[in-house]
Amino acid sequence: MTNKNNKEAVYHERSLFGRRQGRALGKERQKALDELLPEIGVSKDYLTLKADQDPTHLFDKPYDEYWLEIGFGYGEHVRGLMLQNPDKAFIGAEPFVNGMTSFLKDIQEENFPTNNLRLLMDDGMLLARSFKPVSLDGIYILNPDPWHKTRHHKRRLVRQENLDIFASILKKGGDLILTTDVEDLANWMITETINHGAFEWQASCAADWQTPPANWIPTRYEVKGAKGAKKMVYLLFKRM
Ligand SMILES: C[S@@+](CC[C@H](N)C(=O)[O-])C[C@H]1O[C@@H](n2cnc3c(N)ncnc32)[C@H](O)[C@@H]1O
Repeated sequence: MTNKNNKEAVYHERSLFGRRQGRALGKERQKALDELLPEIGVSKDYLTLKADQDPTHLFDKPYDEYWLEIGFGYGEHVRGLMLQNPDKAFIGAEPFVNGMTSFLKDIQEENFPTNNLRLLMDDGMLLARSFKPVSLDGIYILNPDPWHKTRHHKRRLVRQENLDIFASILKKGGDLILTTDVEDLANWMITETINHGAFEWQASCAADWQTPPANWIPTRYEVKGAKGAKKMVYLLFKRM
């Protein structure tokens, strides 16, 4: 496959359904986007359908672990993870321009070290499909869009075809961490993931999924949705 054909095929697989841009970008966000994303962004040439990309190649030095967060919103969770774990590498995907630029602006203003961070402003599944098998230590999908209507359930990120990819790229014992405060989506994600067969749910009693794991970093959605947050569920699965 030529590089051009590979690119076309990669983007043919893109499935993005939500909005990608809200308010027009202010000067500072545009500056952060123009200056920082080229530095720490995952290049489009990295994306492939061949499932042969090594996440370690995204970074200048080796790290203890490699984690992916799909749909990081405004980035506070991945930022917190980086502070807690400077020896681990984090790769984040977020197609929503306002979320991405807010995160980039925070990084620039705080002069936050980014050696162990790489970002894609696009569908996180483009990245997940690119990684080679058994190459990631964990995946976070926090408060994915619920797509309430039955005819839209096929848009949900946690579904069989995507679980096949997560099962492939996670190392044995790797973590798949899902949260939501939408009861129907919680039931869906539990059922889909258990039925898939490659993941073991770590909960042994209700308190395990009703309480956040130790050192949990709440996301903006989790904090903002404080009314619904009492129903927030934390679903921890391990690749068997
Ligand atoms: C409800 S928000 C939650 C954001 C954040 N995780 C939080 O908890 O605050 C869902 C996010 O997933 C992003 N998203 C939706 N589909 C995506 C995809 N295919 N790849 C990456 N991000 C995606 C949306 O742009 C949105 O920012």
